Amino acid sequence: MRVAAIILLSSLFLMQTPVPRIWNDVDLADWATPVAGLNVRPGHFTSAEYYSVPADNFRTYPVYPPDHEPSWYWEWLQRQKPEPLVDAARMKTTADWIAAGERAFREIDFVLARTNDPQTIGRTREKDTFGNSFLLRDGSVSDPRWVITDQGLMLTTSDCSSCHVRFNEAERSIVPAGPLVPWPESNPFIRPPGLPITDFFGRMVSRQFPDEPFGIAFWRTAATPWAPDTRIDDLRDMKSARDLGPLFGGNNGGVPRVNGSPFYGSKVPDLHLLRYYRYLDATGTHRLRGPEDIARYIAQVSSGDSMEFGPHLMLAPKQRRVTYRFADEVLYAIGVYLMSLEPEKNPFAAEPALVENGRLIFEREGCGNCHAPPNYTNGKLTPATGFEVPASHPNLVDVMAASLDTDPGLAMKTRKGTGFYKVPSLRGVWSRPFLLHDGSVTSLEEFFDAARLHNDYAPRGWNPPGVTRRAVPGHTFGLNLSAGDKRTLIAFLKDL
Ligand code: HEC
Ligand code: HEC
Repeated sequence: MRVAAIILLSSLFLMQTPVPRIWNDVDLADWATPVAGLNVRPGHFTSAEYYSVPADNFRTYPVYPPDHEPSWYWEWLQRQKPEPLVDAARMKTTADWIAAGERAFREIDFVLARTNDPQTIGRTREKDTFGNSFLLRDGSVSDPRWVITDQGLMLTTSDCSSCHVRFNEAERSIVPAGPLVPWPESNPFIRPPGLPITDFFGRMVSRQFPDEPFGIAFWRTAATPWAPDTRIDDLRDMKSARDLGPLFGGNNGGVPRVNGSPFYGSKVPDLHLLRYYRYLDATGTHRLRGPEDIARYIAQVSSGDSMEFGPHLMLAPKQRRVTYRFADEVLYAIGVYLMSLEPEKNPFAAEPALVENGRLIFEREGCGNCHAPPNYTNGKLTPATGFEVPASHPNLVDVMAASLDTDPGLAMKTRKGTGFYKVPSLRGVWSRPFLLHDGSVTSLEEFFDAARLHNDYAPRGWNPPGVTRRAVPGHTFGLNLSAGDKRTLIAFLKDL
C-alpha cells in the first residue's frame, strides 16, 4: 500500500516539471546592463505589475490563399476551440520542452496585432490579396496566421518567425531561428501584398499607445533625451506606420527594434549561437545565465518594457502598463529550445589541409584572444570608441580593455547603448548573410577588404537611410594579410 502510494506520488512528481517564474524581482535586479550615457540600469515593471494581467497562451494556424486552401480547412478552423500554444501539464522531459519551444517559436504571434474585423478577414478570402506571395510547400503563406482565442477566430501576424527565419526557396520551406537571409529575389512578396505588415504594426502601436498620433508613439520607442538626435525628433511628424517604409532596411538586414534607432542598424542575429554567449544583443543589453533569461528577454521585448532610463520616463503615466503577457510556460519553452540549438556545419567546407593552414593564420593573428575556440567567442564585452568604462561598472569582470573601433552609434547613442559590443561567436559564420553588429557587410571577403575603411566605400549590407557611400570602420584584424593568406583564413572560418 505504502509502496504503491510512493510510486504514485513520484510518478506525479515526474509528470510535472515546474515552470520557473520568469518575471521575478530577484533575477531582474542585476539582469540589465547599465546604459552608457546615464550609467544606470534601465528600470522595469515589478513582478506584481507584470503578473497583474492574465496569461496569453494560444496556438495559431496557417493562412492559405483561397485557391491553395484544402477544401476542409476553412470549415474545420471555424469549429476549433482555443488550444494552448504550450501545455505545461504535458511537459515531462527536456525533449518535450524543446519540441514545444520549437513549435511555439514558429507559431507565436503579436497579441496586439490580432483582429476580428470582418473586412480584414474578408480580404484573406480573396485570391487577389495574395498576389505573387511566397508559398510554402503546403500552399500556405509564412505570415500572417490565424489564431483562435476566447474571442473566436482572429487574423494575426507572426512574432519571432517574421524576423528570425531563413527561407529555403528550393524546398519552399522556412528554417526557424535564422539567420535571416535576404528574401528570394525571384519572389519579392514574402507577405501577401494585400495584408501589409504596416497595417498589423499600426494596430499594435495604436493599442499600446491609445489616443496618440503614430509619430509621437514611435518617437517614444527610440528617443534618447540624454543624447538628442534631431532625426529621431523629426519622426514625430509621421502620420501612420506606412511612413516607416524608407526607414526599414527591408532586404538589407536592418530591422530597427524598440530602444534601437533606424539610423544605427542592428542586424537580425543567428539564434543558433545563444548557448555560447553570456549576454544578449550585439551590445550585451542583458545577461544570459540560462533559458530563463531568454524567456525574460522575450517577455521584455514583447510587453514588459517600461521604457524608464534613469530620470527619463519615455511613457506617459497612463501608457505605463503591461498590455498583455505570454504564459511563463510559452516563454520558458522557447528559451529551452533556443538554448538547445547549435549552428549547422558547412556542407561545402574546403580541403582539410587548407583549413589547417587557415587555423595557423587565425592563431598567428591572435584572433583566438577574443574568438576563443571551441566556441569561437570568449563571451566578453569590448568597449565602443569613446566609452570610458566606470570603475564601479557591475559587469566589469566580463569587460575587455581592447576597443575594436567599429561604428559606435548603436552602443553609444541608442537605448540599447551599453557602451559595449560583445564578441560574436564565429561558429556557423559561413551561413551568416550580414556581418558586424549593424550588418554593414555581407561576406567575409568584404569584411577583410581594407577598401571598406575609406569614406567613398559603398557597403553591400545595411546603410543608414539615404546613405550609399561611407566607411565601415574598425575591426582591422586581418586587413593587412596577403590576398593568399586572406583566402586561407576565410577557408578556415567557413569551416567553423
Ligand atoms: C521585428 C523583427 C524581430 C522580431 C519579431 C523578433 N526579433 Fe529577436 N531580434 C531582432 C533583432 C534585430 C535582434 C538584434 C538586436 C540587437 O542586437 O540589439 C534580435 C535579437 C534577439 C535575441 C538576442 C540574440 C543574441 O545573439 O544576443 C534573441 C534571443 C531574440 N531576438 C529572440 C527572439 C524571439 C524568441 C522572438 C519572438 C518572441 C523575437 N526575437 C522576435 C529582430 C526581431
Ligand atoms: C580584441 C578582440 C577581437 C579580436 C582580436 C578579433 N576580433 Fe573579430 N570581432 C570582435 C568583436 C567585438 C566583433 C564584433 C564587432 C561589431 O560588431 O562591432 C568581431 C567581429 C568579427 C567578425 C564578424 C562576425 C559577425 O557575425 O558579425 C568576424 C568574421 C571576425 N570578428 C573575425 C575575426 C578574425 C578572423 C580575427 C583575427 C584576424 C578577429 N576577428 C580578431 C573581437 C575581436
